[in-house]
Amino acid sequence: MSMMRLRIPLLVSAVLVLTHLVNAEEPKKDRAPMTPAIWRQHLASMPNGDPGRGEKLHRSLFCASCHGDQGVAPTANWPHLAGQKAIATFKALLDYQQGTRSGTASADLMKDAADGVMPQEMADLAAFYARQKGHDAMPGKPSVPLLVRQGDPKRLITPCASCHGAVGQGGRFEAGALAGQHAGYLAEALKEFKAGIRKSDLQGSMRQPSAQLTDAEIESLATHYAGQLLKK
Ligand code: HEC
Ligand code: HEC
Repeated sequence: MSMMRLRIPLLVSAVLVLTHLVNAEEPKKDRAPMTPAIWRQHLASMPNGDPGRGEKLHRSLFCASCHGDQGVAPTANWPHLAGQKAIATFKALLDYQQGTRSGTASADLMKDAADGVMPQEMADLAAFYARQKGHDAMPGKPSVPLLVRQGDPKRLITPCASCHGAVGQGGRFEAGALAGQHAGYLAEALKEFKAGIRKSDLQGSMRQPSAQLTDAEIESLATHYAGQLLKK
């Protein structure tokens, strides 16, 4: 009798655990929306990454096949990851996996790549990229747009440098490095924010300013940052 009483709760909890596991495997569509507050918690609890393990994962998960052996992408089809801030990489991987950065063919590629990668592995990968040397600047001598340093108060554009750092090295929170990145990738990202296709910026920190940018400004900002040297 007393055994029965014990077993029923055990069975119930086993079922609960199982349901939980099954739910965890289900597509992520029905989950609660990721509010900025929830994101802050996720980012604050980023595990400590091990760059050695990250390097192994970079190869075993075939990230190297697109992003290059050391995170410097061999072609302009894929963005560089070398020298990126760890928190920016970590957030991007979570975004792809959760579907909060989606809606383009490139993002779908990354959703597949990030599928099943555990948070600890994301942190390891991020630690590996953060430790890599920056890459050479793309050739070209673009002028420094005023938008970078001063923004445009009339259009409520905050200076890019206030978030991405004085020389595009990455700045506050998850605002990552832009320096030395492929110009085409940067321009595409800005256009996606402008069109509202990419919504991964918490509180619209990128959609707001980019909505005000002309296409010519987007091109010149992209060339400007691509021409900066990412120093490490
Ligand atoms: C088939 C090629 C391919 C593979 C394999 C691949 N990526 Fe990517 N990756 C891309 C493309 C394309 C993008 C740009 C996606 C976009 O426009 O959002 C990207 C973007 C990223 C970004 C965001 C960069 C930024 O500046 O925001 C990170 C981080 C990243 N990849 C990490 C990885 C990791 C880690 C792996 C391995 C688990 C991986 N990628 C495998 C093609 C690839
Ligand atoms: C208020 C802070 C803020 C300002 C101002 C700002 N950014 Fe950003 N930017 C961010 C954050 C945060 C992200 C990462 C968004 C995410 O998590 O997807 C980002 C992402 C980007 C990306 C995508 C990078 C990638 O690797 O995919 C580009 C390109 C970019 N910003 C360019 C600019 C430019 C150009 C300006 C100036 C016109 C600017 N930003 C102004 C905060 C800012």
